[in-house]
Amino acid sequence: MDITLSLIKADVGGYVGHSSCHPDLLDKAKESMEHAKQQGLLIDYYVTACGDDLQLIMTHQKGQENEQIHKLAWNTFVECTAVAKKLKLHGAGQDLLTDAFSGNIRGIGPGVAEMQIAEREAESIIIFMADKTASGAFNLPLYKIFADPFNTIGLVIASNMHSGFVFEVHDILENKKVSFNTPEDTYDMLVFIGSPGRYCIKNVYSRQTGEIAASASTQKLSLIAGRYVGKDDPVCIVRSQGVFPAVGEVLEPFATPHIVEGWMRGSHHGPIMPVSVRNARATRFDGPPRVIAAGFQLAEGKLIGANDLFDDPAFDSAREQANDIADILRRMGPFEPHRLPLDAMEYTTMPEVRKKLAPRFQDLD
Ligand code: 13P
Ligand code: 13P
Ligand code: MG
Ligand code: MG
Repeated sequence: MDITLSLIKADVGGYVGHSSCHPDLLDKAKESMEHAKQQGLLIDYYVTACGDDLQLIMTHQKGQENEQIHKLAWNTFVECTAVAKKLKLHGAGQDLLTDAFSGNIRGIGPGVAEMQIAEREAESIIIFMADKTASGAFNLPLYKIFADPFNTIGLVIASNMHSGFVFEVHDILENKKVSFNTPEDTYDMLVFIGSPGRYCIKNVYSRQTGEIAASASTQKLSLIAGRYVGKDDPVCIVRSQGVFPAVGEVLEPFATPHIVEGWMRGSHHGPIMPVSVRNARATRFDGPPRVIAAGFQLAEGKLIGANDLFDDPAFDSAREQANDIADILRRMGPFEPHRLPLDAMEYTTMPEVRKKLAPRFQDLD
């Protein structure tokens, strides 16, 4: 049975500040999703939030980039924005960059990850959702999951994974894509994906079957809007078991937190902390960046779950490490590399301060 999984997310208002999502927004989104399910547009849905980002997880049979599905998500965000405005939530409608929907939600603010799959006998899916970070934040974990034998032993000892995976990488500045076959293209690929501000892993495919294995959102809000409007706060869908890595192999990269951009005002580096949905609140210095993992089994498109996979003491040590890294980075205050380099900061006073001080700048001899 062919099923399309569409994960569409947006920040339509924070409670309090940019820390989390008000329950009334979740209720409004569920109401809209339920209506679409009753109408037969959706097979199933699951609504959740990571920090201030509202997440619509939908299953249907309309295929990817479907206008009806994208319009449903857009209208849901518009309705939720109305609730956010009534409650005077912070940044109501933040990620909705246009007044009019014209066929596709890409390029108008919300983040999208979609995949059409032939549902397997047992279809294990893990959906990662992050707050206070940027597209590209999943580059490192996706590399570890699908190409690093020190993370994923299946690459070495499971014959159906031994041929490796294909990574589709997008250059989000020049709007180009390139595919790498791992393991043989690994070193070439790392030249690019090690720079996640520009090169983002979009999709991963099994070389054994050609099937889609993972898909991440790569929308960059600042590139779309041409100015700071909030962070991309990306999402990523990963299929698991069988020809794909086991659940534990998919989760393992998050046991050692990596450093991502997007903390405080979208202008700082911070460690990404794996947390339960309940703890997906961006508090300290509006962070630190958080990631949640919602596990599902699909049953004829029905979402059996969510299983809150980071709600587990096995990730306590990762959370402690993330707090330690946060302490160390915070000591640097406004200095790089805690603060992002000048051209990557979402917030800056540089043009106005530079202009004000222009008369005081003198040529060096
Ligand atoms: P299955 O063989 O049940 O897919 O599990 C693989 C495994 O050993 C997980 O660690
Ligand atoms: P969001 O992109 O999650 O709204 O965060 C904005 C921000 O930078 C808060 O410090
Ligand atoms: Mg926000
Ligand atoms: Mg956010």
